[in-house]
Amino acid sequence: MSSVLRATGLSKSFGGLVAVKDVSFEAAPGEIFAIIGPNGAGKTTLLNLISGLLTPTTGRLELLGTDVTAMPTYRRCRLGLGRAFQVVQPFPEMTVAENVLVGAQFGSEGVSSSEARRRADQALERTGLDRLRDQPVEDLNLLQEKRLEIARALATQPKVLLLDEVMAGLRPGEARQAVELVRGVRDEGITVVFIEHVMPVVRDLADRVLVMDHGAELARGTYAEVTSDPRVVEAYLGVEDDDSRAGEESADARSVREAPGDDAGATAGRDA
Ligand SMILES: Nc1ncnc2c1ncn2[C@@H]1O[C@H](COP(=O)(O)OP(=O)(O)OP(=O)(O)O)[C@@H](O)[C@H]1O
Ligand SMILES: [Mg+2]
Repeated sequence: MSSVLRATGLSKSFGGLVAVKDVSFEAAPGEIFAIIGPNGAGKTTLLNLISGLLTPTTGRLELLGTDVTAMPTYRRCRLGLGRAFQVVQPFPEMTVAENVLVGAQFGSEGVSSSEARRRADQALERTGLDRLRDQPVEDLNLLQEKRLEIARALATQPKVLLLDEVMAGLRPGEARQAVELVRGVRDEGITVVFIEHVMPVVRDLADRVLVMDHGAELARGTYAEVTSDPRVVEAYLGVEDDDSRAGEESADARSVREAPGDDAGATAGRDA
């Protein structure tokens, strides 16, 4: 199995705090690889190390066989790394199509404007945003914003797509649509690495799961393997929301979880 993404002994310290501790993993072509774990486990920090937003304190990262450990984000992007953020970050004053075009232009060196438009149109179509192309971004609902974030990443023509909690705040029906979208992306051969607290989404999407706790790997394997691991149950899955925690949760997250007869919004160990 050749790997598209290979992390070897990645660590990241912020002063005295070790946010990511000696993490190693490989993702294969067309694989959907999930990163889960409690709040503060180091998931976003690990994704930031992969995208190049942060430089590791120690360790090595290879993308498609190239050592990218010290490579800036824009060059990783041109090699084939696309990213959608935990917090959606569009340019609100621009239309949907303009936002995606920015992704297309950013993604490749010397891409002609007609080719950038072609890539943007393709990404709009794949994410179902075609009919909203001339809408200002500020008019989009949450699901449409998430689609936009994925469209912007797809327009860079990635071979690896990084997603940080794209299902957060979605209603169960919307989460199912987002799951279908991610599956479609994978079916085109793109490797997907995603962080997710919504466990049914992890179950439905992930080929393999990395469980992090306190910056380090706690377990790795299929969804069935990691969710039956007593250490994972203790550190993450067994955490019950008490009333004080539920009070801090967003109204969106609550409405998802309380939707009757549908567990697509069930979250694990979420105390943010
Ligand atoms: N830039 C930073 N400077 C200092 N500490 C940081 C920084 N970024 C993250 N941390 C700390 O590193 C740890 C891991 O944070 P990280 O955001 O990676 O967790 P996470 O697993 O993504 O959590 P969540 O599920 O809440 O998104 C936390 O203790 C956090 O406070
Ligand atoms: Mg995070």
